[in-house]
Amino acid sequence: MDRDERSISQMGLKEMREIARQKMPREAWEHIMGAAESRATFRRNQKIFSRFLFRQKIFHEITSPDTTVELFGRRLPAPLGIAPIGSFSLIRDTAEHEVAEGGGKAGAMIFASHAAKSNPPDWAKATTAPLVFMGYMSKGKEEVLEFARQAEKLGYAAVGLTMDVVEPVKVGDHVPLSTRDGKPRKGQPASPKDIERLKSEVSLPVVVKGIMGAEDARIAVGAGADALVVSNHGGRILDFNRAALEALPEVVEAVGKKVPVLLDSGIRSGGDVVKALALGARAVLIGRPICWGVAAGGAAGVERVIQLLTDEIKRVLMMTGLSSIKEATRAILIPAEQRRETPWDG
Ligand SMILES: Cc1cc2nc3c(=O)[nH]c(=O)nc-3n(C[C@H](O)[C@H](O)[C@H](O)COP(=O)(O)O)c2cc1C
Repeated sequence: MDRDERSISQMGLKEMREIARQKMPREAWEHIMGAAESRATFRRNQKIFSRFLFRQKIFHEITSPDTTVELFGRRLPAPLGIAPIGSFSLIRDTAEHEVAEGGGKAGAMIFASHAAKSNPPDWAKATTAPLVFMGYMSKGKEEVLEFARQAEKLGYAAVGLTMDVVEPVKVGDHVPLSTRDGKPRKGQPASPKDIERLKSEVSLPVVVKGIMGAEDARIAVGAGADALVVSNHGGRILDFNRAALEALPEVVEAVGKKVPVLLDSGIRSGGDVVKALALGARAVLIGRPICWGVAAGGAAGVERVIQLLTDEIKRVLMMTGLSSIKEATRAILIPAEQRRETPWDG
């Protein structure tokens, strides 16, 4: 059977990635897969997961492990969110709608980027998924606050700020253009005052994304952040950054008792998700794989990515003797002694 004719519901991530590469306009592919300078951070984000091995345990009575988690008062079927991606619409005009629909069917929390074409009401109309509005201060403080207030009225689960895109903006090899007005995107220094201001305007939990260390974590929480996303923006901004997974333990140690800590950057399998949770994350966000899913199969592709990861999480839990994802701790991990090559550069 021709690969494109196979049902998307049977595909693995690599296959979807390959179809996405073929189907997507070339500039869209290059933008999505773009990373800072030498791509060292991008590669490290994925490679780092091979530092940990699982401790297999087969004698137990577990048949159906619980993958659900609670985040911002919402129960999610799996600890998975869709990362804020401003440029889904480069894939196709309808891609944001497809992400909204597929994310809704899969029950993944959608972190909707301020840089997307859709505004908070558009996302709310298009999905049944719990939503988080992720603002960029560079788009103007008033607009962030206005959109955050809208999000609150629309029943969003949370609002947040992406705080790691600075001037001069360069993502991958070029300055990205706004998907709304075609102008070069702007950056903005991160200020705790912006967190305070957002906190004072809305009563929703405030999420801060772009934290890569204990000191920033404490500043963000001190300014009122109710959750953090440990992220290096998928290796798109700072070359030779640490991998997000490397920064996770110190952030959890610094503020993990006070606020939930999420992670993105480099998650490519259910095993990666379980490792992040074992190291203290409450949930993870999925970035590029969602782009591949939507490019390869529209809403069904997005749903497939989430389903695939959820199934893999379940298998890892079964094989490590955990009846619930909430039981994942370092006890299920063994440090790998040898450096192993990353399985694939995706
Ligand atoms: C094409 C693209 C666009 C992105 N746009 C945004 C954005 O608008 N806002 C944001 O907070 N992060 C943005 N990110 C970063 C993602 O939210 C996430 O941190 C990153 O994709 C994680 O890395 P991974 O995809 O390699 O796992 C973008 C990432 C990509 C690949």
